[in-house]
Amino acid sequence: MVVKENASLKSLNTFGLDVHAAHYVRITSREELRNIKQLPKPWFFLGGGSNILFTRSFPGTIIHIDLRGRGIISDDGDDVLVYGMAGENWHEFVRYTLQLDLGGIENLSLIPGNLGTAPVQNIGAYGVEIKDVFHELEAFDTEKGEFIIFNAEDCQFAYRQSYFKQEGKGRYIITKVVLKLSRHHTLHTGYGAIGSELQNMGITNPDIHDVSRAVVRIRMSKLPDPAMLGNCGSFFKNPIVSKEKVDDLLKRFPDMPFYPVSDAETKVPAGWLIEHCGWKGKAEGNVSMHKQQALVLINLGNASGEELYAHAQRVKQSVKDFFGIQLEEEVNVL
Ligand code: EPU
Repeated sequence: MVVKENASLKSLNTFGLDVHAAHYVRITSREELRNIKQLPKPWFFLGGGSNILFTRSFPGTIIHIDLRGRGIISDDGDDVLVYGMAGENWHEFVRYTLQLDLGGIENLSLIPGNLGTAPVQNIGAYGVEIKDVFHELEAFDTEKGEFIIFNAEDCQFAYRQSYFKQEGKGRYIITKVVLKLSRHHTLHTGYGAIGSELQNMGITNPDIHDVSRAVVRIRMSKLPDPAMLGNCGSFFKNPIVSKEKVDDLLKRFPDMPFYPVSDAETKVPAGWLIEHCGWKGKAEGNVSMHKQQALVLINLGNASGEELYAHAQRVKQSVKDFFGIQLEEEVNVL
């Protein structure tokens, strides 16, 4: 295990911020984790760097989880358990499962980040979340110094939420993820944009490969490529509000999209709220909410983390003032 001092994190975060870590270590084998005790605290476990906003250089140790490897654990001819180590790139892993002709994560194509961080925020898109195909994961418990297995229930998945973002935060390092994929998979094409994209592509009888291609096309048309414009995807979560609140809003804004999540609660798209507060594509300094998707905070060039964060707070405040809705960050802010 080689510890670097004052290491640049520019290529390790998708906002492209030029921040440094006082200490940095790259973990490439599970067994190295047994020796991390000696590393100076505070610690931060970094995966693909696609869900983190660094507002300053990091005073402790960045522990970069770069474990690789993937394969099939079991195959009963219908359900197939497939594993990947935490440092595998998410989209590469999706492609691998498509090559194996396994269905389950095609709707999650092209989501940035790594396999090990996907369960932390229960990544989701186009009507599917990782929890829908999750089997189990292995994590290193940094307090007890041992590896343990978490099943789906242990992970306490909810919308962009899990045990690893709550009570388990900062304690566990996810090392390996196992998904249960299927040879006879039912497609989820109900999400509006997928259906119309398949139609545009002239496909009437889609398979998992077509759905993946449709998702890639939609994402590429709306979401900026972090290699060109620094971003972390959705910066805020879609807020869940009471039915009374939505009924009230619909009187004022009859065209507002909304998605009931239970009898009492409804999800409202934060991108719509932000657009209606006038922030979509409006640049301030080096920062803007994306012109095609107002939920995505972007670094137009040389923005600092503080600038990006300050912009996000202004957006949040105006949504609160105008709609009376409190947005919550989806991205981790350090
Ligand atoms: N909308 C607007 N203006 C905008 C953006 C969206 O009016 O600027 C409206 C759209 O017209 C649509 C609704 O809001 O009626 C929802 O928009 P969209 O389908 O683009 O999805 P989203 O709710 O904004 C969520 C996820 C995305 C995921 C998409 C597709 C969250 C926080 N975000 O966004 O995930 O790709 O659904 O399933 O739940 C991510 O987490 O980084 C991410 C990109």
